[in-house]
Amino acid sequence: MLNEEKLKNFLFKKYYKRLSNHRKLRSATFEISNACNFKCIHCYNQNLAIKFIPLDIAKRMIDEMCEMGLETITITGGEPTVHPNFKEIYKHCFDKGLKIALFSNGYFLDKYIDFLKANPPERIEISIYGVDDATYKSVCLVNDGFSVVNKNIHMLIDAGLTLSLKTVIMEQNWKQFEQINDYCTGFNVPFRFDLNLLASKDFSNGQQTNRLTDKDYLSIMNKIKKLKLKNWLSFLTRENMNNDNDCLYSCGAGRISLFINCLGGVRLCNFAEFSEKNIKDFSIKEIWDSFSQYLNLEKDKSGECYNCKYKKFCSNCAVSTYMEHRTNGKVILPVEQNCREAKFIYNSVKSAKNDK
Ligand SMILES: C[S@@+](CC[C@H](N)C(=O)[O-])C[C@H]1O[C@@H](n2cnc3c(N)ncnc32)[C@H](O)[C@@H]1O
Ligand code: SF4
Ligand code: SF4
Repeated sequence: MLNEEKLKNFLFKKYYKRLSNHRKLRSATFEISNACNFKCIHCYNQNLAIKFIPLDIAKRMIDEMCEMGLETITITGGEPTVHPNFKEIYKHCFDKGLKIALFSNGYFLDKYIDFLKANPPERIEISIYGVDDATYKSVCLVNDGFSVVNKNIHMLIDAGLTLSLKTVIMEQNWKQFEQINDYCTGFNVPFRFDLNLLASKDFSNGQQTNRLTDKDYLSIMNKIKKLKLKNWLSFLTRENMNNDNDCLYSCGAGRISLFINCLGGVRLCNFAEFSEKNIKDFSIKEIWDSFSQYLNLEKDKSGECYNCKYKKFCSNCAVSTYMEHRTNGKVILPVEQNCREAKFIYNSVKSAKNDK
């Protein structure tokens, strides 16, 4: 049977240079504020001066992107619901006919249920940081995090809104991974998890101390395999990450998607600060056009990552390299936590094949 993913990868590998001339903005992620009611110890937005995108600028940017053909928008933060004009920005997107994904910690969503029912998003994606208040306290530094978020999730589901849940696993909550998985899958909604922590955008790298130790990482991955979670498959599909090709930027960034921060900075993606230009100085179209400089770049064929046998399963890219090593976005270098993950998946897939 024809494997559609493999065919897609093959065609991409062969034609990515031509593809980079056929770019069309379809989806945007809009960080409308970096402010948040939680103070998560792992948050990549920590230590930044608090900003809210002004409503008139947000509307103007949304209008311009719609003229460029935008179809979907992810509204995120910080915590987007703490923006004083959250409803107006959201409604503007809704009235423009955009499909909306709303990323939230869930804490204030009870206040918006009627509004969201009247203007339904495609999905609300809520992060779950534990299954009790004590674990939330250790990650998010709030006292009643789980109680409130749990109550709100039930209210949102009762209201018929479409949810999806996710978690980020670190030293503070890894022992609850199974309970978090049971809790989230119990709602019968999509659930995903991440075991890697990015460095913070201010490069203070404080959260790296919260990354899973090798021992805890192995213990959790073995648990995941035993549980035969549906999500284990999403790790295996790293094979489809499109990383096994010569193109430095082989994801959708700059081809179909972009990221906007709360200062009006427009980037290839959330973490590609090196590619940022501001709408004070340029139109979104001009900034979008400037991204083309990255799309024809090739990987260094003598580089360690290019020649790595694990690369098929590796989620490292030029941007995660930048976040870890402060490079210029034009190179891929090994990132320890990605190596750990890729090796584990490689070996698991290999032993699964041998067992057959
Ligand atoms: C910045 S938050 C914004 C939306 C909302 N406040 C929330 O927590 O879901 C988006 C997602 O990024 C995750 N995140 C934050 N810092 C991270 C880091 N250093 N590494 C990996 N994921 C991180 C959060 O846990 C959350 O799932
Ligand atoms: S809830 Fe989200 S934005 Fe807020 S501190 Fe936590 S990860 Fe960061
Ligand atoms: S980050 Fe590590 S596992 Fe991934 S391609 Fe580079 S060397 Fe290989």
